[in-house]
Amino acid sequence: MEPGDSARAIALRNKDRVGGVLRALREIVLAHGHVSRDQEHVVADVFNLSHAEIRGVVSFYHDLKTTPQPPVEVRVCQAEACQAVGGRELTARVEALLGLRLGEANDSVVLSAVYCLGLCAQGPAMMVNGRPLARADERDLRAEMPP
Ligand code: FES
Repeated sequence: MEPGDSARAIALRNKDRVGGVLRALREIVLAHGHVSRDQEHVVADVFNLSHAEIRGVVSFYHDLKTTPQPPVEVRVCQAEACQAVGGRELTARVEALLGLRLGEANDSVVLSAVYCLGLCAQGPAMMVNGRPLARADERDLRAEMPP
């Protein structure tokens, strides 16, 4: 099956659903790791929208990646509540552990900032491959990383 065919099946499955465009794009990312330009065109075709409209949605949402990503994504909260309980120190320790700065990636990990994970009362918080970690420290990160 061609990537475009799979994207078409995903788009068709979501065509008549509320929020169908966003659902389809999210499913494509889950299935393929990112949304390619060809897949954007497929979604535009199925939803009878212009490619520019789909491009606008994809470029607005940080989670709709447009290039292949490393297998592990680590996000560390940088918002105020987490900063008040050690978020900056956690960030520094995670950066040292991974050998990356916020916004950097290597072949296996991408490290990025996030501005609130909804765990403000249990900070500092971070997320590893979509799994939220409350009162996080670098030991949590070690436990979440693949061997
Ligand atoms: S401020 Fe960090 S989770 Fe809300």
